[in-house]
Amino acid sequence: MLKSLFTQLRCSACGKIFPAHAPQTVCAACGKALLAEYDLDRAKRQLSREQFSKREGTLWRYRELLPVVDDSMIRSLGEGWSPLLTAGKLGEELGLKSLYVKEEGYNPTLSFKARGISVAVSKALELGIREIAMPSAGNAGGALAAYAARAGLKAHVFVPRDTPVVNIREIKFYGAEVYLVEGDISDCAKAMNKSEQRHSWFDMSTMKEPYRLEGKKTMGFELAEQFGWELPDVIIYPTGGGTGLIGMWKAFHELEQLGWITGKRPRMVAVQAEGCAPIVRAFKMRKKESDFWEGARTVAFGLRVPKAFADHLILQALYDSCGCAIGVSDENLLQELPRVGSLEGILLCPEGAAAVAALRQLVHERFIAPADRVVVYNTGSGYKYTELIVPEAGNEG
Ligand SMILES: Cc1ncc(COP(=O)(O)O)c(C=O)c1O
Ligand SMILES: [Zn+2]
Repeated sequence: MLKSLFTQLRCSACGKIFPAHAPQTVCAACGKALLAEYDLDRAKRQLSREQFSKREGTLWRYRELLPVVDDSMIRSLGEGWSPLLTAGKLGEELGLKSLYVKEEGYNPTLSFKARGISVAVSKALELGIREIAMPSAGNAGGALAAYAARAGLKAHVFVPRDTPVVNIREIKFYGAEVYLVEGDISDCAKAMNKSEQRHSWFDMSTMKEPYRLEGKKTMGFELAEQFGWELPDVIIYPTGGGTGLIGMWKAFHELEQLGWITGKRPRMVAVQAEGCAPIVRAFKMRKKESDFWEGARTVAFGLRVPKAFADHLILQALYDSCGCAIGVSDENLLQELPRVGSLEGILLCPEGAAAVAALRQLVHERFIAPADRVVVYNTGSGYKYTELIVPEAGNEG
């Protein structure tokens, strides 16, 4: 059986149900994020976790648990099934026995954003949507441009004016419209909503559309499968909009419902930059939602999100998992780039480097113990940030 078992959407806050066959954005009753649901009882009867090992090396291996109904609508560039790399030398340096890097830089357009966008664009195509718009810190925009090209859809991407030049060029390269906006991603969202053309566009902002989350949840499925249907003790994830973290948490819930994983779930760690840390601030105050972070600044552009739309779901996952939120300085994250490069042969993106800096801090603070099995997400490839690839002084040549 290779058919989607997608049934309906349910509001993450008020529980209202929405039908799956029409385009949906946020809850019409309360304005919060909608979550996709599947017939998991049927999946339990008809599927076994062992079946997956024989399937294709993309996220579409989890076909039944994804929302696209018609196979012919799938637009894939080979996203997902990224390597789970051991990081033995870095682990040794930190006194950890089992440290892994989930290397998302291997995805099409070189970041994990390809996962969410592949699923959301395929679903948009299935629902008859022709034109899509979104605000982006850069990587999501690049992914949207590529998948929209593949699907024959028109895309409009609003990015901050100081977005790395590679991101801006790739969006144009794939034929999408780029709009440069003064400020950060929240200013981009405002500019997009003010545009006169906005009524003809479908808004694919993360978590304001239900299916990017479904693509990103496959990071959770993969982790379970790559660990032989077990989960690690700690997951360290660089968090902007938080869709990856919320998605993994949803994936673990679905896997539990299916009876494919048992035991304790991992402690989830949301990593932010000190210059933009609304989730860290809210977590410290044990709040359910975050407040807008004024004057957001960091070299990790993907983390420059002053207020995540689904912050209540990020914080819920942190509390429920006995995890935490932690901020790191740009200085500390930049130090991790050459260190991890020379130790492990991995070129981190700044957001992934933030996760490693957080790991170092958490080991120091003993939130992480030597025997813990830890996974750090490198959410994108450092090759997109050439300005950060600097040789040590005196070594150029
Ligand atoms: C490389 C990278 N890592 C992490 C993030 C943050 O992702 P999320 O919105 O899932 O929290 C982004 C978002 O732009 C990004 O580009
Ligand atoms: Zn609602």
